[in-house]
Amino acid sequence: MKQLIKMIFAASIAAASASAIAAGDIEAGKGKSTACAACHGADGVSPSPMFPTLAGQHSDYMVKTLKDYKTGARKNPIMQATAAALSHQDIADLAAYFASQTGLKTLKK
Ligand code: HEC
Repeated sequence: MKQLIKMIFAASIAAASASAIAAGDIEAGKGKSTACAACHGADGVSPSPMFPTLAGQHSDYMVKTLKDYKTGARKNPIMQATAAALSHQDIADLAAYFASQTGLKTLKK
């Protein structure tokens, strides 16, 4: 019984750390976002209608979109090349960072 409890405990710690890896890190995403700034703007607020604003976008949406570019389910030559170089952790971090930005809400006011 004691052994079983230990096993369950170990399994739940493993599950918790696995979800920590999948969750985005805002600070890490901020560092990685410099690669996106040229087109999407320094704070994710795009300087041009050619590029979508990312600030304030839902992170789930961004994760899905970047994975779709990666697999080719969504096609755009620029973003497919960009997303191809991103790991799943990069995607999670970038999505967390841009979702934390309030630029889009500011724009709408
Ligand atoms: C060379 C310019 C350029 C760079 C650099 C770039 N993007 Fe993009 N991005 C675009 C363009 C153009 C689109 C619109 C593509 C389309 O219509 O599918 C886009 C679209 C997107 C979208 C979809 C937005 C939406 O509303 O559906 C996301 C998310 C995104 N980019 C994230 C990123 C991230 C994260 C980075 C940095 C790792 C990055 N982009 C770097 C040009 C760029």
